[in-house]
Amino acid sequence: MTTDPARGPGHSDVLVGLQYGDEGKAKIIDLIAPDYDVVARFNGGANAGHTIDTPAGRVVLQQVPSAVFHPGCELYIGSGCVLNLVKLRDELALLRTVGVDLADRLRISDRCAVVQPVHFLLDQRTGAAIGTTGNGIGPCYADRAARTRDGVRCNLQLRDLLEDPEGTAALMLAAVERELKEEADAGERLAAERERIAAMRESAEALRPMVTTDRTHLARKVADGARVLFEGAQSLMLDVVQGDQPYVTSSHTLPGHAYVGGDLPPRYHRHTIGVAKAVVSRVGHGPFPSELGAERSAAYFAEACRTGRGRTEEQAEHDPQQLLGSADPLDVGTALRMLTGEYGSGTGRPRRIGLLDLEQLREQVTLHGVDVVYLNKTDCLAHYRDSHYGGVPVQLAAAAPGAPGSERIEVLPVFDAEQVRAAVAGLPGLDGVPASMLAFKEYVEQRIGAPVIGLGLGPERDCTAEFARPGTLPAALPAARQAGG
Ligand code: IMP
Repeated sequence: MTTDPARGPGHSDVLVGLQYGDEGKAKIIDLIAPDYDVVARFNGGANAGHTIDTPAGRVVLQQVPSAVFHPGCELYIGSGCVLNLVKLRDELALLRTVGVDLADRLRISDRCAVVQPVHFLLDQRTGAAIGTTGNGIGPCYADRAARTRDGVRCNLQLRDLLEDPEGTAALMLAAVERELKEEADAGERLAAERERIAAMRESAEALRPMVTTDRTHLARKVADGARVLFEGAQSLMLDVVQGDQPYVTSSHTLPGHAYVGGDLPPRYHRHTIGVAKAVVSRVGHGPFPSELGAERSAAYFAEACRTGRGRTEEQAEHDPQQLLGSADPLDVGTALRMLTGEYGSGTGRPRRIGLLDLEQLREQVTLHGVDVVYLNKTDCLAHYRDSHYGGVPVQLAAAAPGAPGSERIEVLPVFDAEQVRAAVAGLPGLDGVPASMLAFKEYVEQRIGAPVIGLGLGPERDCTAEFARPGTLPAALPAARQAGG
């Protein structure tokens, strides 16, 4: 990237998911990346799964920022991320097979914590209670905060592995030995862990040319005019503090944290961009106020995790169109999952499905000062035409605790599926977007108190009806109407 010092300092925007993850953040990043010089991550690790549909096929990324298909964009992995080194090297190799070589574009902070073999072990042992992705993320962040265990360092950063590979590998091995010593097959498993550690060392060496020791890297770039987009991983409802403990991820997912984990001073902040989806989903356990089928859906998900039930089994057993007509919200949720492909991109687990919860969005917009919102999967709302709702149901208030069925739902006019398809075909013009969809957009804006600047109408990046770009914001909306107001 070349910046022109004469144009003055640049700016940074932060994009976060407003719900429980998997809102289609990667698709929006891919769409707006041409407006930025750097796309950077600030939290999480290989627990994320970013799906991007490209002319070369579908790519699922875990750790690399989503602007991979924009050669003009530098990619940066900030110190707030935790790294699975082997997976990161594999991800870069996968990208080379679709013609993307990131050797000169990716920069990684040497202060990122490394996910160690002992972290996988601990997550696999204890993560099921929360429904974690099993990638060792929680134990890694826990060790980062603990710093030492029994007087021995337990948080190992990428720079430790690069500066002292031998000593760092010995610490990792000792940690895993301590965990395995009571196990009957400890010897066998330790041999496998030794191999894993050797692979991590090799991966760290392969990544060495991309690792930056310069902590002022981004700050200097932005001071020279660069425009940065921070890409949040996981989402606001999964934040370790603001989400519902313990059913959360272990990092801070909030936009303010971009300026901690992303290695840039907050003075450059311009806009906070939220991404939501119209058919909401959640993987993992925990509260989900607008869940279709409520506790029964949560129990179904728990059972699916236990038995490994996923897309194939559901598709063999059910006709989604028939389920859609059922009066049971659990069936409607199953139908929507099948018709809209809501299965974990990393884990393949069926996702729990819920109504668009406008009260929850209103709260998140207010709490985090979200300036603009992209709403994905609005085309999927057309499926509600064949449901007993007879329109698009949205949730306006949380159910009172212990009083199922008291949730406030409003049913809005449904979209015409044919018109939606025509709108997609006609993009990028907006003329074909059905009037009912535009009325829906306005309704959502009034409820949540932020402008919706894009409606997702399909998985591909060019299937987004765009009304504005961050930086060319429409006039401010009045504050959101309170639920019931
Ligand atoms: P962990 O991040 O693997 O520790 O999992 C903690 C919780 O966050 C679980 O409910 C996961 O399903 C959820 N989670 C983690 N990463 C993602 C993601 O990328 N999308 C959606 N949920 C996620």
